[in-house]
Amino acid sequence: MKKIMRIAALAMALCLALCGACASAEGNHILIAYFTAAENSGVDAVSSASVVEIDGAAKGVSQAVAEWIAERTGGDLFSIRTSTVYPAEFDPLADYAMREQEEDARPELTTHIENLDQYDTIFVGFPIWWYEMPMVMRSFFDEYDFSGKTIIPFTVHRGSRLSGTPEVIQELEPNATVVQDGFQVYHEETPDAKADLDAWLTGLGY
Ligand SMILES: Cc1cc2nc3c(=O)[nH]c(=O)nc-3n(C[C@H](O)[C@H](O)[C@H](O)COP(=O)(O)O)c2cc1C
Repeated sequence: MKKIMRIAALAMALCLALCGACASAEGNHILIAYFTAAENSGVDAVSSASVVEIDGAAKGVSQAVAEWIAERTGGDLFSIRTSTVYPAEFDPLADYAMREQEEDARPELTTHIENLDQYDTIFVGFPIWWYEMPMVMRSFFDEYDFSGKTIIPFTVHRGSRLSGTPEVIQELEPNATVVQDGFQVYHEETPDAKADLDAWLTGLGY
């Protein structure tokens, strides 16, 4: 009997050691990448053109949604940042963003995903600017090859919803699977959108 117990304990210890090795070798396989004006305007979030207050903290709207997705899925958060300092006020930001579109600009990225290989699912969130993704998102998709990975878009907006952005992402990343039924939330409704977000994530199997 003692011998059986010893063998069982040994087997369990071996199993735990192997599982631990697996977990650390694989790492997290979900990444939540997001761009938000508030983190790229050179002012604190409160002074930004676009901010939402959640649990007493002011933050970019896309950031708030990204954090909820990370909380629910356990994925790693990644803030897409650029050396461009966007105007903090809405009107100059609107002009600036329109000019970037007209010029087909590719703002320089200052944050870069490390260990892209470890991720198979990438949630990608951004605000809609002039009916499209901000041009910095094109810099982002230029930088990475997401072939074989699943991209799950989410947007915040003031009426344009997803605005065709999943189709654009699919064109930019032809060898990725881009979920077309992305999450979208109206800017002002974001603080109350957690239940909708949870339902969407449940539908995706999270
Ligand atoms: C430059 C600019 C252009 C915008 N263009 C649109 C638009 O075309 N359609 C729309 O629904 N919302 C538009 N919005 C609203 C944003 O999508 C919305 O405020 C979003 O919540 C901002 O998210 P953020 O806080 O993560 O930056 C625009 C906002 C800005 C600043």
